Parts: sequence; structure tokens; C-alpha cells
Amino acid sequence: MSKILVTGGTGYIGSHTVVELINEGFEVVIADNLSNSKSGSLDGIEKITGVRPAFEQIDLCDKSKTEALLKKYPDIEAIIHFAAYKAVGESVSQPLKYYHNNLGSLINLLELMQQYSIPNMVFSSSCTVYGQPEKLPVTEDAPVQPATSPYGNTKQISEGIIRDTVAASANINCIALRYFNPVGAHPSALIGELPVGVPNNLVPFITQTAIGIREQLSVFGNDYNTPDGSCIRDYIHVVDLAKAHVVAVRRLVENRNRAKFEMFNLGTGRGVSVLELVHAFEKATGVKLNYKIVGRRSGDTEQVWADTAYANKELGWKAQSTLEETLKSAWDWEVYYKESGGWK
Ligand code: WQD
Repeated sequence: MSKILVTGGTGYIGSHTVVELINEGFEVVIADNLSNSKSGSLDGIEKITGVRPAFEQIDLCDKSKTEALLKKYPDIEAIIHFAAYKAVGESVSQPLKYYHNNLGSLINLLELMQQYSIPNMVFSSSCTVYGQPEKLPVTEDAPVQPATSPYGNTKQISEGIIRDTVAASANINCIALRYFNPVGAHPSALIGELPVGVPNNLVPFITQTAIGIREQLSVFGNDYNTPDGSCIRDYIHVVDLAKAHVVAVRRLVENRNRAKFEMFNLGTGRGVSVLELVHAFEKATGVKLNYKIVGRRSGDTEQVWADTAYANKELGWKAQSTLEETLKSAWDWEVYYKESGGWK
């Protein structure tokens, strides 16, 4: 059974990926410092899969502790590296926190992969590396634009660090997965997105408004050059995204990658506006949403969605969930989390 280290594995995308890895017969070790997640997600993973993965609470910026982890769990065949700070707004106000954490943890892992002969990494990247693409939908070979936030810049720099390290290391291969907008929750509603404080992202703000935690959703601008004036994104169900990670790690473990460093866009290939998403949520859940149109949010890209042809063909993977199914799963999770009294 292949052993996979999942950093950030108690987090939103990480926990959903751990469920799919276990379902596919992988042995999983989670490393997470719980700075942006709760250990309650381990209970959810166990309830869904019947397996409670090994869990180590650790800060990957501490190299000696990270080395001790790798000694404790020998024979790791791949690392799926989610652990990073990811709040765009916070990265603008605290850039050094982001550069130190996101780059420091990655460099520690890569150095230790060389030292302990761990051959594979799947890296959690983001469509923010594209900025506002000149051509839509955006393909993997689209030019990387200057990052619009320190968060986005850490993703661009991280890809460069990985590219150079892989080129200089005979025994390391990597796949970078560039996510568009991950949303939704596991159909069991036992795990889902747990924003800390006021949600920055659209869908958790919508579900918290619908359940009464938030008073009203603010739609940031309807004067963009789009059909209904609101911004367009590619919203992908987190379970579809998680399944793509299993495909990617298997591709590396089975040496089917065509290059030492590959990257894939993970989206649905469909652009959806903020207002379309609001109306789709109301249709999917039957819940009327209280919202108002306000001014634009600085740093927002007007429109971006994925060209998924390469990922579909090369990985043999395609997002399956409809927008309505995805939004209903997000709502079911919000309802479950409230009724269950939340996680410790
Ligand atoms: C989507 C749209 C907002 C909140 C960011 C990161 C990306 C990834 C996902 C980490 C935009 C609008 C939002 C609200 C709104 N993060 N909106 N009212 O900015 O596309 O992507 O999060 O992996 O890397 O860049 O996501 O959900 O914040 O915004 O109108 O209360 O919803 O203006 O048009 P974004 P988002």
C-alpha cells in the first residue's frame, strides 16, 4: 500500500483529498499545524472512510521537526503539499508572513525529499498565477502574469522553486495542480469548508448568509465587462478536485508522468458569474438570498475560467458535478455543521 504524506490534510481541500486517497487504498499520514483548520476533520474522515489516518501536528517551517516526521514514517512515496496560508487580503497586509510560511515550508520539504529519497510531490497551486489572462478559457501554457497579491506571488515563486529543484535533482518529480475556485463539500456533509472568522470567499459567505450567521451578501461590483456585469469564475466541486489529486499522485507513483515537472488546470471549463451563482444557489436550495450590489473589491480579476482539455485528456480526469449539486453540497454542510454544534 503506497504511503502518502498530506501536508495541510485537516484543511478544506486536504481533508477531501485524504478521503479519496483512503477510498483508493492509499495509506495516509497527515501533517498540519491546525493554524487554519480543526482536528475535528479527522473525525469526519474516519466516519466517511472507517479509517482514522495518522496525524502529526507540526509546523513545516520547523525543519528539524519535519525531519523527525519523515524518520517516524519511512517509505513515503509521495507528498501532497497543501499546507500554506491562502487569504488574498491578509497576504496584502502581512506579506512577510506569507513569504516566510509558504516558501519556507516548501523549501524544507524539498530539501528533505532529496535527503530521504522521497521521489514525488503533488503541489497545490492556483489559477492566480495567470492573473487576468489575455485569452479565455486559459490553458496551461498561458503566460504567467505579474501576481496581483503576495499570496499569488508565493504560488508563482513556489512553482519556480520546484521547477529548478526538479531540474537539478535526478530523483524528484512534481505535478503542480492549478485550482480555479474550489467550492462545495463532501456529499455526506461530514466534512467541508471551515472559514476562520468572516469568510473572504463567495460561497461560504453565501451559505453563512443563508443560514443567518451573516446579515447580507455584498456582491462586489456589477459594472464589469461581462454579460451581467459581475465577475466570472470557474467554480469546481472540492470532491472533483480531490479526485484529481489521486489521479496525479498515482501518475507519479506509477512513473507515468511525461516530464519531471507537469502542471494541470483543475476547473470545470465553465465560467459562472457571481449573480448566476447566487441565483443557482437559490434554485438548488430553495433559500432566498439577501444580497446587495456594492463597489468592486480591489485586486479582483474580471473573468477567468479554465481550458480543461489537457487535464481531461492527459489525466483522464473530468469534473463531474453540476453547479447546482455543488452549491447544494455547500448548503447541506452549513446546515449539518450548525446542527452538529461544530468541531472542537
Ligand atoms: C469570487 C468572486 C468576488 C465574496 C480566491 C483566491 C484563489 C482561491 C479562491 C485559494 C469574486 C466575489 C466574493 C463576497 C463577492 N484561493 N465575491 N462577495 O477571489 O476568485 O479566488 O479564492 O486557493 O486563489 O484568489 O474567490 O470566492 O473570494 O471571489 O461578490 O462576499 O466572488 O468579487 O468576483 P477568488 P472569491
